[in-house]
Amino acid sequence: MKIKQLLSALLAFMVLFSALTACGSTTSDEPSSTGSTSSSVESGTDDTAVYVDRSAVYAYDDNAPSLYEAFSQWFKVGTAMNTSDLVEGSEEMEILIKQYNVFTLENESKPDAMHPSEDVYNFEALDKLVEFANEYDKTVRGHVLVWHSQCPDWFFYDDDGNTVSADVLVERMKEHITTIVSHYQGEVDVWDVVNEVLGDNGGLRDSMWYQIIGDYDGDGDKYDFIEIAFTTAHEADPDARLIINDYSLESSEDKTITMYMMVKNMLEEGIPIDGIGLQMHIDINFDVETCKNNVEILMKLKEIDPDFVIEITELDLSCFSWDDQSTEVELTDEFVEKFDSLYSDIFEMLIEFSEAGYLDSVVMWGYNDGSTWLNSYPVSGRTNHPLLIDEDYKLKSAYWALIDLAASKSS
Ligand code: GLA
Repeated sequence: MKIKQLLSALLAFMVLFSALTACGSTTSDEPSSTGSTSSSVESGTDDTAVYVDRSAVYAYDDNAPSLYEAFSQWFKVGTAMNTSDLVEGSEEMEILIKQYNVFTLENESKPDAMHPSEDVYNFEALDKLVEFANEYDKTVRGHVLVWHSQCPDWFFYDDDGNTVSADVLVERMKEHITTIVSHYQGEVDVWDVVNEVLGDNGGLRDSMWYQIIGDYDGDGDKYDFIEIAFTTAHEADPDARLIINDYSLESSEDKTITMYMMVKNMLEEGIPIDGIGLQMHIDINFDVETCKNNVEILMKLKEIDPDFVIEITELDLSCFSWDDQSTEVELTDEFVEKFDSLYSDIFEMLIEFSEAGYLDSVVMWGYNDGSTWLNSYPVSGRTNHPLLIDEDYKLKSAYWALIDLAASKSS
């Protein structure tokens, strides 16, 4: 045996020994059914064999790995959260600090929360997140400035209930964006400037923003509210990254092409858009190849702006197919294996995107299965399991699959 093989055999023996010891010492705190207590040597050549300590049970455990540290050579890893999670010493806050380095408020920085009426701005929630981020050296995403949903009616109507003119809505939108973005100048790193401006059919969404502002500058295109939104945000904070965020870009080629064409035109006109956000609310039938294909289309925008990026902004992986109406899913070994290997394939694809210079940030929509929106949408009363940490904050086997992936790929 060569020395390298001898060393490798010795390492394998040590890991096996420590795995047996770890299993023996785990009693009442068993990890979730989709977890594992054993330590392992990752597959790979002798040169790439890596040791992964799997003795942690909970996401906040001192000996738990850290998702964002594991993937730090490729991208940041973030989560949506609520300021109620930021209670000093709580398990929730420990998980956030340990596992993630980018944060998006799930609801508290949306227009209805931050600017509920014309003269009222609520900065408390985002201020609190910014304070937390500064203390722990994290990145903040501002979500969202202009959206058709969770946006109060006052923007669109006058006191008599009539829809306002394009001039009035443009002024209101500018005031809204300027006030909020300049309040956080240098503090909020990334803004989802507009959200879901495309419809399901691939064209522009028929929103109030679109209907009222329309072709404001008379140049023939009808996405002027988007152009004005980006220009205004850029004036308020020239250093913030400005994102156009949408769903189904990972699965619909029609929608992807519409997005590509629209952003291409805007970039050529000098509109300051830095990237496209792929929400990635996906399900168990997700197709990696379609996603790669669509991202390649979007990344042709680098021919216009070499720094143009995509961000993954709201990733979760529903255990139910979109058209499935059932409320429970049986977590058989076979299902869990499929789920975990799909998560692994997705993160392997994201690593490829990062290595191609396409992406540097991946944000999950929530950090545990207990509080995911997918427990009530699109079927209420459902128990879904779309994330990497379970409802008791135990590390799921999908989490370990990603830690293993990062370890095996890391250089
Ligand atoms: C969309 C929005 C998010 C959030 C999710 C689901 O994707 O962008 O703000 O509302 O839906 O909760």
